[in-house]
Amino acid sequence: MLLYFRRYPLYVFIAVQIVLFLFYYTSKNSSCFFSALTPKADYEWISSQKYILGEDGRRQYSYDHNMPLIFIGGMPRSGTTLLRVLLDAHPDIRCGEETRVIPRLLSYRMSWMKAPFESKRLEEAGITAEVLDSAIGSFILEIIVRHGKPAPRLCNKDPFTLRSAVYLQYLFPNAKFIFMIRDGRAVVHSIISRQVTISGFDLSSYRQCLKKWNSAMSSMYTQCSKLGPSVCLPVYYEQLVLHPKQWMQKILNFLDVSWNETVLHHEKHIDNGDISLSKLERSTDQVIKPINIEALSKWVGHIPADVVEEMDQVAPMLRRLGYDPSGTPNYGEPDSFVMENMHELNRNRDNWINKEEQMKEQRSKLRERIMTSSAQKKKSSEPPASSDSSI
Ligand code: A3P
Repeated sequence: MLLYFRRYPLYVFIAVQIVLFLFYYTSKNSSCFFSALTPKADYEWISSQKYILGEDGRRQYSYDHNMPLIFIGGMPRSGTTLLRVLLDAHPDIRCGEETRVIPRLLSYRMSWMKAPFESKRLEEAGITAEVLDSAIGSFILEIIVRHGKPAPRLCNKDPFTLRSAVYLQYLFPNAKFIFMIRDGRAVVHSIISRQVTISGFDLSSYRQCLKKWNSAMSSMYTQCSKLGPSVCLPVYYEQLVLHPKQWMQKILNFLDVSWNETVLHHEKHIDNGDISLSKLERSTDQVIKPINIEALSKWVGHIPADVVEEMDQVAPMLRRLGYDPSGTPNYGEPDSFVMENMHELNRNRDNWINKEEQMKEQRSKLRERIMTSSAQKKKSSEPPASSDSSI
């Protein structure tokens, strides 16, 4: 070796340089033979595979960003809960209650991205778009996977997530989206008559609510169109409740899930506890019933005349989505299956009303309890009257 060095100093020097370069380069790219010699960073030892245990405590369901998640969205009061319980009735699908934190996180992200100063500050702090996307994707995935029981296909229903459908599809490339569409007049009547609080909606004004519906629908429509028909499927509430079998077949087909009659009888799976419902969600007392058409035309006659007259200007999305903004609506005739459900609801009307009232009562009692306990907590955390106010 020494002899070689003396005879060919330049060659030896070059050879050493090549070896050092290879060592440095391959230690950064762990797949090469030199990587075994270099210590790995801690995070590299953490397995990227994640899993959740099944109800038997044994079966492992692994999950990652490439899984074919299902996102159901649309304006609240468009039958989004109905569709999620219909899918929940399928043995291979689990949706579950609204998570609420997912749309909030997405809207935080949107506001950070929109504010030039804030986004620059994040970048300066090393929170690049890449870092943020990875963290947001992991957060959303953990929430969807862990807030309910495992299933071969997992689904999320937080109506406003559809405003970020394109971004969600970037995070989860194999996800599919269902966009629930309902006549805006019925949506707004539902919001106002049931006093459903939605941020930005003035519950005393049909005109203002219709304008808000219009802008939310316009943005979701754009998102869904950008994804295209193989990724985002628009579903009209009216058609779903008039022809459930036909529409559920279409929806399962779109999701690549095999047909199962259970999706037409969700109420039975609610009764036996297979489908999880939140006592605090506003649609819970309606979805306990079989698929019906009671809510289709309830709005007719409730919209102020001046708003009806200017409907095309107030809510142009109505016409764009195929609704006639002028006259009385004609959504079509129900299938015999739905007619039978309607007969059942009429035959046992008192029973169903009772069930509905019980759910409403449960909700208001729970709300009251939460309010009282939070008021008590607030009171007990206030400093006692005699304490030194300068502290
Ligand atoms: P109304 O408030 O007009 O009655 P969402 O869950 O997206 O907020 O939608 C709520 C609407 O879905 C409600 O409209 C409700 O009646 C309707 N809905 C819920 N369960 C239903 C069922 N079993 N059959 C038909 N419509 C249902």
